[in-house]
Amino acid sequence: MQALVFTGVGQPLRCEQRPDLVPREGHVVVELKAAALNRRDYWITRGLYPGIQTPAVLGSDGAGIVGQVGRGVPSSWCDRHVVLYPGLGWGEHPSAQGPEFRMLGMPDDGTLATVVAVPVGSLFSRPTHLDWQQAAALPVAGLTAWRALFPQARLQPEQRVLITGIGGGVAICGLQFAVAAGAEVWVTSSSARKIQHALSLGARGGVNYQTDGWATQLRDRSGPLDVILDGAGGKGYGQLIELATRGGRIVSYGATAGRPPDVNLHKVFWKQLHLIGSTLGSPDDFAAMLDFVEQHHVRPVVDQVFPLDDANRALHRMAESSQFGKLVLNCNI
Ligand SMILES: NC(=O)c1ccc[n+]([C@@H]2O[C@H](COP(=O)([O-])OP(=O)(O)OC[C@H]3O[C@@H](n4cnc5c(N)ncnc54)[C@H](OP(=O)(O)O)[C@@H]3O)[C@@H](O)[C@H]2O)c1
Repeated sequence: MQALVFTGVGQPLRCEQRPDLVPREGHVVVELKAAALNRRDYWITRGLYPGIQTPAVLGSDGAGIVGQVGRGVPSSWCDRHVVLYPGLGWGEHPSAQGPEFRMLGMPDDGTLATVVAVPVGSLFSRPTHLDWQQAAALPVAGLTAWRALFPQARLQPEQRVLITGIGGGVAICGLQFAVAAGAEVWVTSSSARKIQHALSLGARGGVNYQTDGWATQLRDRSGPLDVILDGAGGKGYGQLIELATRGGRIVSYGATAGRPPDVNLHKVFWKQLHLIGSTLGSPDDFAAMLDFVEQHHVRPVVDQVFPLDDANRALHRMAESSQFGKLVLNCNI
């Protein structure tokens, strides 16, 4: 097998030939067709992620064909076309992950490789309308957006939603899901081009969060918002509290722009706001997300596809944040 190995902070991923994988009990080996990058992979390579270990094969997103099964796994899994649940060890509770929870791809070897070994419980059928690249683009972004919008924020049809930083992978999936669910979706971005992309995917409108008075401009156009999906935090977070309607829900799944310098708690309690945190999702959430994607024929947006051994170029594109959609790697080299 071939794998892209993370050997140290600031080092390019190194393409290595490794011994073939043999599945242990309860596990399978999947021959990967495609994998996708997440911001997490980039941050690990820059040393900006907790618990860094080397050497490691990064990558949480993958889709492929089951090649071998370990003891205790029915052989009927062989040759099935699957997409992989991107977490490990969620635990028993739907409300939050347990202490064993971790993402696939460091410390466990992940999907930036030609094959990966995962527990049989990580296997889900690939939605039939998706090609390999679209299927690989879905797991982390789709699952995070799904849990944040539906189990967490309880989004209903015709509610008004704001999705911040629409250039992000989770944000684009959130836009597609909210539109498919019949919500009215508004977006923010640093880029007029990305707002145009969002409009073509069904957003009602958008504003540039780097312009002065962006929140006022948005409120004048959209009115109060029922649900806000935010992966940025930072100083814009205080504006979200202003923009939410009374009883509204603000779901945070990331903090790309850092900690909010101030949060007006008086507004939080007076407006009866729900400030909600959300991380990835359980295997049950993953199954529900895939059903939704299949039912509504949602196709994840792929920005660009690279050969696996060109992953360092894909990481470079992620560093520039110029992409709209997922950066995908073809694994069968
Ligand atoms: N909790 C979880 O399970 C989970 C899962 C996945 C990701 N995350 C986290 O969520 C965040 C986004 O990840 P991602 O992979 O979806 O996206 P990403 O590819 O990292 O994109 C980040 C986007 O954030 C936007 N952004 C940057 N600064 C902003 C600001 N000040 N205000 C508003 N938007 C801003 C930009 O949007 P524009 O280009 O439109 O300006 C940028 O394209 C990261 O922090 C990531 O670690 C968490």
